[in-house]
Amino acid sequence: MKSFEYHMTTDILFGMGQEAALPDRLKSYGKKILLTYGGGSIKRNGLYDKLRVLLSDFEIFELGGIEPKPRVETVNRGAALYKREGIDMILAVGGGSTVDCSKAIAAATYWEGDAWDMVVHMDRITRALPIAVVLTLAATGSETDAAAVISNPNTHEKLLFFSPCVLPGVAVLNPENTYTVSPFQTASGSADIMSHVIENYFDREQAFVPDAINEGLLRAVIRYAPIALEKPSDYEARAQLMWAASMALNGLGSTGKNFAWSCHYIEHELSAMYDITHGAGLAVLTPKWMRFILSEYTVDKFCDYAVNVWGCERSEDKFTLANRGIDATEAFFKRIGLPSTLSAFGIDDVHFSMMAEKACRIGRLQDAYVPLSEDDVVKILYMSL
Ligand code: NZQ
Ligand code: ZN
Repeated sequence: MKSFEYHMTTDILFGMGQEAALPDRLKSYGKKILLTYGGGSIKRNGLYDKLRVLLSDFEIFELGGIEPKPRVETVNRGAALYKREGIDMILAVGGGSTVDCSKAIAAATYWEGDAWDMVVHMDRITRALPIAVVLTLAATGSETDAAAVISNPNTHEKLLFFSPCVLPGVAVLNPENTYTVSPFQTASGSADIMSHVIENYFDREQAFVPDAINEGLLRAVIRYAPIALEKPSDYEARAQLMWAASMALNGLGSTGKNFAWSCHYIEHELSAMYDITHGAGLAVLTPKWMRFILSEYTVDKFCDYAVNVWGCERSEDKFTLANRGIDATEAFFKRIGLPSTLSAFGIDDVHFSMMAEKACRIGRLQDAYVPLSEDDVVKILYMSL
C-alpha cells in the first residue's frame, strides 16, 4: 500500500427532503446563485419548482439546457453570464453532465480566454466559484470528486480535468430525486459506478482495506440495480445506488493505489466520437478488457474478484474461476438491459486506430494495471465490435 493524503471536504446531506437545508447552507456564499440544469428532467419531475420555492430569498440566474457530455461552448456561455451578473455561487441540479459543466464554469469564471484552454491546462486553475449540487442521477460520483469531463465537438475531444478548486462544497443526495431516471440511464449509471470501482480494484498495488470497500460497493450495485430497474421508486435501492456512486469515486477506493485507469480512457474516445452513453460504453468494453488482460500475472486478482464479488467457489482451476467472474460481469450488464457490442450503437472500426492513439496518449495507458499499447487498444475495440 502506497502512502497517501486523503481529504474530502464536501458536506453531504443524504436522505429524503434534504433540499430543505439548502437555504441555510447556501446563505454564507452570498445572494446570487447560478442555477444550472440539463434538458428539462427537473422541470418534468417537479424538482425545479420545489427548489425555486425553497430558494425564494436568493437572486437566481439560470443556465438550463446543459447537454449530456457537456460542451465547452456551454461552459463559455455560463462563464460569460457570471462576468455579466457577478454571481456568488453555482447550484448544479442534475446528473454528472450538469455537475461537470458547472465545475468548469466555476473555474472558467476566473480564467482569461477560452475554457477549452483551461481544460487542457488544468494545472493552471487556481480559483473557482463555490459549487453546491443537488444530484438527480447515481452514476459519475462528480458530486463528491474534484474532476469534470468536458467535450469539444469541433475536434471530437472529450477531456477530464482535475482541480481541488472544483470539489463541491455541498451535495444534496436525496434518492427520491432519482425515481424518474429512465431504465437505460439507471443501468448505464450502475455500469459507470461499477467501472469506477473496477478501475480502482484492478491495480498493481495490493491494498486490502480499499479493496474490501471496492468489493462491497460492487456487491451493492449488483444487488440493488436490478431492484431499482424493476421498481423505480424503491427508496432503499435508489439510496444504495446513490451512496455507492459517491463512494466509488470520492477517493476512498483508490487510497494507497496507483489510480492508473484503463477502460475510461478508451470509452471517452468512443463517446467523444459517437453518440454513446458513457456507462453503456463501459459496459461493452469492461468485460472485453478483462479477457484481454487475463494472464498468469493477473489471474489471482481475478480469482479474488470472482469469489468476493460474484460468490464463485474457490475450488476450481484458477483460470476457470477467473473466467467465471468475467462471464458474470458480462451477464450482469446484459441482465440490466445494456448492449454488449459496439455495433449495437452503430459503431464500426473506421476510427479505431485514431481512438487508440488518443486513449494511450491522454490516459497514459503504458502505466495502466496491465500496460496497453495502441495495438492492444485496437484489439480490445475489435473484441467489442
Ligand atoms: O438533461 P436532463 O433533462 O436532466 O436529463 C438527463 C440526461 O438526459 C437524464 N436525467 C438525469 N437525472 C434525471 C434524468 N432523467 C429523469 N430523471 C432524473 N432524475 O439522464 C440523462 C443523462 O444525464 P447525464 O448527466 O449526462 O448522466 P451522467 O450522470 O451519467 O453523466 C455523464 C457524464 O459525466 C462524465 C461522463 O463522461 C459524461 O460526460 N463523467 C464524469 C466523471 C466525473 N466528473 O468524475 C467521471 C465519469 O467517469 C464520467 O466520465
Ligand atoms: Zn465513469
